[in-house]
Amino acid sequence: ALEQTLSIIKPDAVKRDLIGRILARFEAEGFRIVAAKMLHLSEAQAQGFYAEHEGKAFFAGLVDYMTSAPIMVTVLEKENAIGDYRTLIGATNPEEAAPGTIRRDFALSKTQNSVHGSDGPSSAEREIAYFFAESEICPRD
Ligand code: CMP
Repeated sequence: ALEQTLSIIKPDAVKRDLIGRILARFEAEGFRIVAAKMLHLSEAQAQGFYAEHEGKAFFAGLVDYMTSAPIMVTVLEKENAIGDYRTLIGATNPEEAAPGTIRRDFALSKTQNSVHGSDGPSSAEREIAYFFAESEICPRD
C-alpha cells in the first residue's frame, strides 16, 4: 500500500552538512518528499517525541543530543514506505548496519546515527502528526 513515514535527519548529519546528500538518497530510492521542515527541538519536544524510551539508560543522552543542533524532518511517501525506509537506513548501530545503508555510510555511533525512521504504521501516524499539521503535507498526484 502507499504509505507515509516520518524521517529525521539528525544533528550529527546536519552539523556535517549532509542534508542534501541524504535527501538525494531518499529520492534516488523512490521516496517522494511530501513535507519538510527544519527545526531545533526544545528539551520538551525531544522528550515527547521519544516518550516510549523514557526510563531507559540512554534517554537523557538521546534528548541532549537531539537538542544539540537543528534537525530536518520530512514525510516520505512510497509503496511500503515504512519498511523500505528502515531497510534504507539500516540498523540502529552503524557497526551493525548493512553495507550501502545510510547509517553504515554516515552514522558515527548508536546515538549519533544520522537518521530516524518510524518503526511501524502506528508510530508513523503519531510521529507525522507530532511535527506536521495536515495542511503542511503535500501529496502529489
Ligand atoms: P531512533 O531510530 O531515532 O530511535 C531511538 C533512538 O535511541 C535510536 O535511533 C538511537 O539513536 C537511540 N538508541 C537506541 N538504543 C540505544 C543505545 N543502546 N544506546 C544509545 N542510543 C540508543
